[in-house]
Amino acid sequence: MKSIPPFSEAAWICSDVIGSRRTVPPAPYFRNAFTICKEVQSARLCITALGLYECTVNGCLLTDAVFTPGWTDYTKRCYYQSHVITDALRSGENVIGVILGDGWYSGHLGWGERQAYGDRPQFLAEIEVTYRDGSVERFGTGENWKTTVGAILENDIQMGETYDARLEPLGWERSDYDDTVWTVAKLAPVPDILVEPAPGPNVRRMGILPSIKVTDLIERIFPSKLYDFGQNFCGRVRIRIQASAGTTLTLCFGEMTNPDGTLYTENLRGARCTDRYTCSGDGIEEWEPRFTFHGFRYAEVTGLKPEHFFEIEGVVLHADMKVTGHFACSNPLLNQLQHNIVWSQKGNFLEVPMDCPQRDERLGWTGDAQIFMATAAFNMDVSGFFRKWMTDLRDAQASSGWVFCVAPRLGRTDIIPERDGGPAYSDAIIICPWQLYLWYGDANALAENYAAMGRYMGYIEAERSVEYIRGHASVDEWGGYGDWLALDGSGKVEGGTPKDLVGTATYAQLATLMAKIAGVLGNEDDRAKYAELFQNIAAAFQKRFVTSEGLMASGTQTSYTLALQHDLLPEDLRTTAVEELVKNIQGKEFHLGTGFVGTPHLLPVLEKYGRLDVAYRLLEQETFPSWLFPVKNGATTIWERWDGWTPDKGMQTKWMNSFNHYAYGAVGAWMYGTVAGLSLDEKDPAFAHVIFKPRPGGTLDWAEASLETKYGVAAIRWDIKDDALTCRLTVPEGSQATFQPPAGFFAETQTLEAGEHTITISRHERTKRSAPARQFTEELEAVS
Ligand code: BGC
Repeated sequence: MKSIPPFSEAAWICSDVIGSRRTVPPAPYFRNAFTICKEVQSARLCITALGLYECTVNGCLLTDAVFTPGWTDYTKRCYYQSHVITDALRSGENVIGVILGDGWYSGHLGWGERQAYGDRPQFLAEIEVTYRDGSVERFGTGENWKTTVGAILENDIQMGETYDARLEPLGWERSDYDDTVWTVAKLAPVPDILVEPAPGPNVRRMGILPSIKVTDLIERIFPSKLYDFGQNFCGRVRIRIQASAGTTLTLCFGEMTNPDGTLYTENLRGARCTDRYTCSGDGIEEWEPRFTFHGFRYAEVTGLKPEHFFEIEGVVLHADMKVTGHFACSNPLLNQLQHNIVWSQKGNFLEVPMDCPQRDERLGWTGDAQIFMATAAFNMDVSGFFRKWMTDLRDAQASSGWVFCVAPRLGRTDIIPERDGGPAYSDAIIICPWQLYLWYGDANALAENYAAMGRYMGYIEAERSVEYIRGHASVDEWGGYGDWLALDGSGKVEGGTPKDLVGTATYAQLATLMAKIAGVLGNEDDRAKYAELFQNIAAAFQKRFVTSEGLMASGTQTSYTLALQHDLLPEDLRTTAVEELVKNIQGKEFHLGTGFVGTPHLLPVLEKYGRLDVAYRLLEQETFPSWLFPVKNGATTIWERWDGWTPDKGMQTKWMNSFNHYAYGAVGAWMYGTVAGLSLDEKDPAFAHVIFKPRPGGTLDWAEASLETKYGVAAIRWDIKDDALTCRLTVPEGSQATFQPPAGFFAETQTLEAGEHTITISRHERTKRSAPARQFTEELEAVS
């Protein structure tokens, strides 16, 4: 049967209500009554908006998804949802009701003002009813709809929501409501964009957090209460209140408290993150805002009186992704680190992989996303989430090939300079599809994005490099974000690693990936072309950044790490490079100097080149700067900066200091893959072939990881006791596994079939644990 376009009889409509670049207007309500005279066989409703919508049919909410229809580059496309509403209809008059929110479309976006894509929200909806007699009737949006404003006086993702319950037009979503004072909806301009079925996953309420502690803040001008939810998260609160009509509560949100116990809000920058609720006075009122979210652990509530009944709970919002992974080990601090990584993933995977959920930013930063993607894929099924975001990324590519630094691209161009996001950032257009292929065996993700990847490579070659040095100052004055937020070297936010070094090393990484991708897609010419490109970049890299003795011109941890990780050094210089890297780390007393670009590769490089001992010392380091320093200081999510807060300096600059920023959580992939020892095989992706490669070290006596793959659960648990290592392994049906014993143990590599296996192996005499740490490592190297 030929499918009929879902909006054949509908027109885009909007209201007259309009804010300005700064003022947030009330949310418009829309309603339409339509009559059903015959017996209904089936009915569906398709709806989309530029902005956000909440829709009811005869008062019933259509979905538990929030922030529908989602965020896309609205200058190019928007998504529609389709709902089966057969059971919601009845014979006679029916009512469809819609409330529109400004959302990303016309609310505040990034650190810019409002109205980035358009001046007010608009929507398009159509009900298609198929009757039992086979006839079909359609009811679409148009000038027969009525509109007004109601109780939602302000709604803005960053600023918050203001709701006056006395102004709610009670019963407006039902048929017996009299809408004669409502005005006629306006026809809106028809956007010249694609309107496509929503790919999902939607954002949903994914959990409820009770408040664990309440403190009275009596020193404030207006006495208030501070509620602590015990967890930094992304979402909002639901309140229940009984108070007299006109009582107004003000709710402010923040991630931290000041030394005097009050709410710390400075790092929110321009985001007001404040909700207001005014009571109708009608019994116990329950309220949760509709069109806003905050990143917070604490809520300060002002306006409560002792006689009020009041309850509050946190509502956790994020993309509806299945939790697939589990990691734990014998060091409780690392378990808290894993908890923090998972919560930063939850806190930022909302429509797009955001950088942070609290300040006036909340954008799909490409660099952060590609760095974290492997870790994200261990924790949850992110296949749908990243496939959707790949569309945003392709939409963020200019015809010349450059890719904007955030995706979706922002409608107005005055918020962030319109240009390529640079090394490690825009590279997401190649790295993320490759990860989709590795994790989910999704070769379509490669095919679908291949043309965009090729254009991007062409752009780097033609516009951003000179003789294979990417980011050379003669063609690129800016050079990208460098090793963002590294503490190493110059102390600038970009870190002391030269930008063209970062640029060239990541260019080499891209060439390697492109050769692999072309190979998977069976494009032999391209495979050879990119393999040759890699050789040329490596030669240029050596010439510019490496001395004949294997020293890096810039001695930062990131320089050595990138050179080793991306195979940019000749074999005979690698040992020196590893020694220099270790010297640098020792010089910092086993502390980190890396930023966003170097950090994810540092421990893998140390492990690969036989310095597992150093990798473990960094991982288990508890003092600043390290992964466990925030954990020791009460963090419940990953901080944006190593020095977000330190005992000597207190809070870092309020201009850029998020406490829920997943990027440094990229170490999670190493904990799953190396500490526990569960990894995939690039040659046989999606865990068709599982590699169990436990690498015990540090203080750990045991570690475990499991992952729900498309074949079933793959799991490993190892325990070390009296120099015997026992591994319990689960190989999913339909896949195979290889067990690779750690160096220093009597054991061979083994192939394992589906099922449960227990393998016990013991240490070589010379590598018993009683040997001093350094000697132990040397011995390991000698026997491996
Ligand atoms: C974001 C980062 C991002 C960076 C790029 C920041 O404002 O929060 O996570 O990578 O900008 O420079």
